[in-house]
Amino acid sequence: MSRILVIDDEQGIREVLSGILEDEGYQIFSAEDGIEGLRLLKTEPIDVVLLDVWLPNMGGIDVLKQIKATYPETQVIIISGHGNIDLAVKAVKLGAFDFMEKPLSLERVVTLVRNALEMEQLKKENRRLRSTILDDDEILGESEGMRRVRGIIQQSAASESRILISGENGTGKELVAREIHRRSRRAGEPFVEVNCAAIPDTLIESELFGHEKGAFTSAVGRRRGKFEMADRGTLFLDEVADMSLAAQAKVLRAIQEMKFERVGGEQSLSVDVRLIAATNKDIQHEIAEGRFREDLFFRLNVIPIHVPPLRERSGDLPILVDFFMKKFRPSPEAALKTVDAEAMQLLQEYDWPGNVRELKNFIERVNIMTDEEVLTAELIRFFLGEPTPRRRVDDMHEYGGMGLNEARDSFEKRYIMQKLQEHGNNISRTAEALGVYPSNLHGKIRKFGIKIEK
Ligand SMILES: Nc1ncnc2c1ncn2[C@@H]1O[C@H](COP(=O)(O)OP(=O)(O)OP(=O)(O)O)[C@@H](O)[C@H]1O
Ligand SMILES: [Mg+2]
Repeated sequence: MSRILVIDDEQGIREVLSGILEDEGYQIFSAEDGIEGLRLLKTEPIDVVLLDVWLPNMGGIDVLKQIKATYPETQVIIISGHGNIDLAVKAVKLGAFDFMEKPLSLERVVTLVRNALEMEQLKKENRRLRSTILDDDEILGESEGMRRVRGIIQQSAASESRILISGENGTGKELVAREIHRRSRRAGEPFVEVNCAAIPDTLIESELFGHEKGAFTSAVGRRRGKFEMADRGTLFLDEVADMSLAAQAKVLRAIQEMKFERVGGEQSLSVDVRLIAATNKDIQHEIAEGRFREDLFFRLNVIPIHVPPLRERSGDLPILVDFFMKKFRPSPEAALKTVDAEAMQLLQEYDWPGNVRELKNFIERVNIMTDEEVLTAELIRFFLGEPTPRRRVDDMHEYGGMGLNEARDSFEKRYIMQKLQEHGNNISRTAEALGVYPSNLHGKIRKFGIKIEK
């Protein structure tokens, strides 16, 4: 049901307009002046505002400016007296949809409101289409794991099912949630995110369900909660496993009935919301430890999507590296950086504990820190901070059981061999790179019995 707000100081006008529009099947709110109107807009989602241009306290033009600045989606129709048509024209220039003159014609009221709503609808549709063609948020990766993720998104997006996304930090859970929303029928409606881990326990209820004025000391005004804001759209409960048990109980009740009350409120509100939740915790483990309610888990986990960590899909690295290199190119004229084969292998062997986010930051850093166009293994190693965690573990295994002298010799030998190779077996250049005298290097080569092919 579309929601209309009438702001006019004349009670007669408010009543007439409410009557006409209620008959058309709209839900009507009314306010006596701009200040009250703006307060209402804060708590109620409004599609169209009918605004008297001549108002006490705060002039209609100022009210219009505030509405357009805060709620650009909301359409405003100006009501103008005969004497202030010039103000009405000014208002249209400032973004009002159109104006109507007093005495009001019933027919004009109805058509203008209908047209304004249609315009709002078109804008929404437009936004939805634009967001589907913008590929900035594309989920990249051709690995088996990512294909599976995309497959489930494809199959489940259009349904209204609840989805629980799991995966380590930075694997792309939020990206997946937004993609599901974008591909759903709700795409033109809001996608509202709640980071459950970031909200203190005492505030989570008011954050989710809103509160009435005076519900607690800091509740100076009435406020809508995330559930209400997401009405008709999607609510994304991020880090859901970090919610306290008390909050979990409230959320469980709200999603069972899709009904709740604002904190300090009596009235029961119902909303139409699709839920997507995400967590980087092992939720089965959380359940076993008694930190997560099993019944809530079953409610949320209708369709599970697991996003695999980057180290399990190192085949995706070339595509991702390429994409982020383009993204972080300092300017469109700057050369596009690439990594050579050995460097790519190094990137693929690295563990990426922070997953795609870490890779993204890494590539951004590389683009800022070096002018080299082709990145070698040496550079990559430098930027990763050698040795990389996984390699360190592997290398240490090689030394297992050796005494310190033996281990040191073993490392020294390998290291010299590698450096020799890098410098085409040229002794003086290798010595320079290692920071030792050539005679010293000769000695080591003899000591370790390294064979040099000429
Ligand atoms: N498959 C992918 N293709 C392209 N970009 C990706 C991919 N996965 C993640 N990203 C990018 O990596 C960054 C981290 O992704 P996102 O925020 O979705 O991860 P997350 O799993 O929600 O992380 P956290 O657990 O830390 O909240 C984002 O900038 C996102 O755009
Ligand atoms: Mg996230």
